[in-house]
Amino acid sequence: MSVSTAPGLLRFITCGSVDDGKSSLLGRLLYDAGMLPDDQLAALARDSRRQHADASDVLDFSLLTDGLDAERQQGITIDVAYRYFHTARRSFIVADCPGHEQYTRNMATGASNAELAVVLVDARKGVLPQTRRHTYICGLLGIRQVVLAVNKMDLVDYDPVVYAAIAAQYRVLAQEMGIVEVHCLPVVALTGDNVGARSSRMPWYQGDSLLELLEKVEVTPFRAADFRMPVQWVNRPDHAFRGYAGTICGGRVSCGDEVIVQPGGQSAHIERIVSADGDLPSAADGQAVTLCLDREIDVSRGDVIADALRPAPVSDQFTCHLLWMGDATLLPNRTYWLKIGTRTVNARVMSIKYKVDVNSQAKLAARHLSLNEVGYCTLGLDDEIAFEAYASNRTLGGFILIDRQSNATVACGMLDFALGRSANVHWQHVDIDRTVRAASKGQHPLCLWFTGLSGAGKSTIANLVERRLHALGYHTYLLDGDNVRHGINKDLGFTPEDRVENIRRIAEVAHLMVDAGLIVLVSAISPYRSERQSARELFDKAEFMEVFVDTPLEECERRDVKGLYRKARAGTIRNFTGIDAPYERPEAPDIHLLSNGERAEQLAEQVTVELLARLDNSGSHE
Ligand code: ADX
Repeated sequence: MSVSTAPGLLRFITCGSVDDGKSSLLGRLLYDAGMLPDDQLAALARDSRRQHADASDVLDFSLLTDGLDAERQQGITIDVAYRYFHTARRSFIVADCPGHEQYTRNMATGASNAELAVVLVDARKGVLPQTRRHTYICGLLGIRQVVLAVNKMDLVDYDPVVYAAIAAQYRVLAQEMGIVEVHCLPVVALTGDNVGARSSRMPWYQGDSLLELLEKVEVTPFRAADFRMPVQWVNRPDHAFRGYAGTICGGRVSCGDEVIVQPGGQSAHIERIVSADGDLPSAADGQAVTLCLDREIDVSRGDVIADALRPAPVSDQFTCHLLWMGDATLLPNRTYWLKIGTRTVNARVMSIKYKVDVNSQAKLAARHLSLNEVGYCTLGLDDEIAFEAYASNRTLGGFILIDRQSNATVACGMLDFALGRSANVHWQHVDIDRTVRAASKGQHPLCLWFTGLSGAGKSTIANLVERRLHALGYHTYLLDGDNVRHGINKDLGFTPEDRVENIRRIAEVAHLMVDAGLIVLVSAISPYRSERQSARELFDKAEFMEVFVDTPLEECERRDVKGLYRKARAGTIRNFTGIDAPYERPEAPDIHLLSNGERAEQLAEQVTVELLARLDNSGSHE
């Protein structure tokens, strides 16, 4: 393991379960580092006596750090506990997170901020599936250095052969998971052997104690050597000053350097580097600075300022690892917000190539990802971004996905490669564009999107509206959910994933038809807010009207035109909307049709009147 004489702050994570002695080890480490004040020690001695009536002089350090377990027992949300401590030689931040499989997301959170992991195994049990899992998650989140602490050596009679076998087995495993440096040591956390100081009970171990190791270890930065800075804020207090503030996440920059603003691609030279300590001639990785350029170019929050000679790659399609943290499952093709660096952009998982069994690392086929599952996916973004592979830059390669309805963080991800196809497929210019096509039809094209339960009357009303529009000379098309499912969506069923894809395709087709100059009526249950919002976003603001056909479930069920409700109640069809599948009511539809006793003709009239008013406002249909 490489060591240096003046190491900086070390951020590390401890992996293992309480049974492995993780809490004891951490408590012991804090004690040996002299971080436990007298009053806390006195309380610990008292608690230890209470817990262990037979061994009154033993300090039970696990009692110190069991806060998370107490939370767990009470069913409180488990998070990561960060502890700060220091010795004369170094400062440390340790992330302590629960090790069980259901807390994989917490472990990932801790690991994403750490440079090194202390992995704990019980000498009697050796390498377990959970050891593989912990190491895999650490490797996935970019940790390259591990200390393997083989604990409870007293229970195997301090046997060097047992220790050596575990260490050898672990080294092989760690290498498979991308861990570059492994240091193994035998410890007894309970009595502190080889924790703070070297133990006389294992003279065959000649290496450093855990604390000595942590003090000396030199963390290998894994950032690209080329200059990168995501713009956090455009600072423009007056006309005289314009600077771009952010934290450098790779390389070094000096006044006079040529830089490029990505993904746009305009370049300029660095005129000034302003910092809290005044102007600097140059600045490097980790520093927060404001950069001033020698000419005015377009720079916004979320852009990346990079070395002009060695810019970051730019793309809008990637492969990536995703660790799913949401309570609701990942649905491919649903739009989420992706936050990377200082940029937020719409993103969809286009396919799940496989999911990974976190215990065995076996690759399994998957159609969705559930809480704590890891998948290898392809990702499509609405806009291009400048990025790096996560393996070479955590800031420009690491991202989170946010659910657009709940605002919850539902995944963390690690970018791998850009897909070549995104760079090779361009928009083709066409001379006859949508304006020309719309003008030749003498109308303002738009999409009328009918949503509601099965049997609510969507198709009947849409049909009547289309007839009226046709009679008035408008050019229309009715895209009906049932009909589309006989053709372009023949391959789709009614699982959540399939419905997301069903709506995405219908929206894309509707968009093409609006582009062709038509007034398009869509009639589909479209049960999810998220997909209806994505459909809306495909269109200009004035081009999309959501029509909520609000018929109570009891009424739809009473009508049961197709006999499907009866089958759903009998259990012969599953995932039926309103029965055993959700319908998310629109919160602010453009037209809200309350169909309590109204006839379809009246409701169609209401839609037609509102639609014509909208068309009139657009000054269409000459
Ligand atoms: S959506 O949910 O994906 O928007 P879509 O509107 O295309 O559904 O299709 C719904 C139609 O399929 C219903 O009107 C009904 O006739 C039929 N159908 C068959 N199975 C189901 C089901 N499980 N849930 C809802 N509709 C179903």
